Amino acid sequence: MPVIALIGAQWGDEGKGHLVDLLAGKARLVARYSGGNNAGHTVVNHLGTFKLHLIPSGIFDPAIVNVIGPGVVVNPEVLLNEIRDLQARGVSTAKLFVSERAHVIMPYHIMLDQLQEEARGEGRIGTTGRGIGPAFADKMSRTGIRMADLLHEETLLHRLRVVLEEKNRLLTRIYNAKPLSLHDTYLRYLEYGRRLAEHISDVHPIINRAIEKDLPVLLEGAQGALLDVDHGTYPYVTSSPPGAAGACQGAGIGPTRLNAVVGVLKAYTTRVGEGPFPTEVHGAEADELRQIGTPWAEVGTTTGRLRRVGWFDAVLARYAAQINGIDTIAITKLDVLDNLPTIKICVGYRLNETHLEYPPATVAVLERCEPIYEELPGWRVSTRDARHFQDLPEAAQAYVARICQLVGARLGLVSVGPSREQVIQVVDLF
Ligand code: GDP
Ligand code: IMO
Ligand code: MG
Repeated sequence: MPVIALIGAQWGDEGKGHLVDLLAGKARLVARYSGGNNAGHTVVNHLGTFKLHLIPSGIFDPAIVNVIGPGVVVNPEVLLNEIRDLQARGVSTAKLFVSERAHVIMPYHIMLDQLQEEARGEGRIGTTGRGIGPAFADKMSRTGIRMADLLHEETLLHRLRVVLEEKNRLLTRIYNAKPLSLHDTYLRYLEYGRRLAEHISDVHPIINRAIEKDLPVLLEGAQGALLDVDHGTYPYVTSSPPGAAGACQGAGIGPTRLNAVVGVLKAYTTRVGEGPFPTEVHGAEADELRQIGTPWAEVGTTTGRLRRVGWFDAVLARYAAQINGIDTIAITKLDVLDNLPTIKICVGYRLNETHLEYPPATVAVLERCEPIYEELPGWRVSTRDARHFQDLPEAAQAYVARICQLVGARLGLVSVGPSREQVIQVVDLF
């Protein structure tokens, strides 16, 4: 099974970084393929606790090649800081490659993201404010600046001159903001290019060589299936494709080369930002799931916002599995449910008198859906030390099995804590 895509199958923060860090042990190449530094991936291993935003979670093994693929939008300043912080903690970034085709997040993207959110008022999306949407919009409208451009003085100056003129008109006339200086922006981004030059390269031959040699390759998803710009809860989505198709597109790997798609699902559901959330809970039930005060509390890794929490939604998870061809499920944070007397799973939606098995496309309709719950008994003992599936209490095994049955994929991994050793590997993925 040499090429595996590991993707978020909910609204992000499913524990992708944690599992990539573990599975990277068997991989030779790990690649990020979409999103940007809106992602926040937590890794807890023998070297400590790390919060990664752009660099793939395979970086902790110096033998592994780590790639930031063409489908990622890169904020060079964030990347440089991340490289510096890792190096300061003894992590080598010598084998980190950034695609020259990846688009650059420019200062006007960040400004526009924040100004547009402000202008949306009540209708805000709750973006991370990192410039993601505007950067992907520019890429699609062919006015983007790519990593390769940072290495060519003339190209950068030429492209920036054209783009900045339009952006400055937008900033000053529509949003009453200050314009950006061509001179300063040019020099600043040229300097980023100079400092990142050793990492910027054509990653196609690197990835292709690994595939031709049948070396194990792991594609690390960012965000989650329900934040997908086409298939998610539009407009409360991100601006890139976080799923398996996006993995092929964003890494430059043909779909026929993908051998497995692992969908990461939290044992319950969380969401950061605005948008519909049928199984959301509040009050004491929410406190139990949120686990404030623990290192794994449901607080956003990137923005520090409190995550919204709710019960496992099998309607959405099954849909995510179908649109991504998820054949293997990884269930994370099972331990968070350890103290609950009973646990709910949403198995369908009720809309007026109709029973729905698929999520409706529009937010207004999804918001009117009432979850139909099945209630399963809790186990009320700690699962944190379980290392084999059989070590889990029977009720926990039954809960996990029910999720797999409802979602329609085999069980691959169960995580019962944030550290590398707290993962039960039910099947060998590589
Ligand atoms: P990602 O964006 O999908 O990589 O996930 P995040 O890192 O944003 O959020 C997941 C959080 O849950 C992090 O704090 C992880 O350390 C933590 N975590 C991951 N798996 C487990 C688990 O099985 N149990 C517990 N208690 N925490 C976990
Ligand atoms: P990881 O990789 C959770 C959410 C934002 C917002 C919406 C759009 O850590 O799972 P954007 O800044 O992308 O334009 O915001 O998407 N969002 C995430 N939520 N985890 C993430 O990444 C997210 N990346 C974006 O909160 O609702
Ligand atoms: Mg995250």
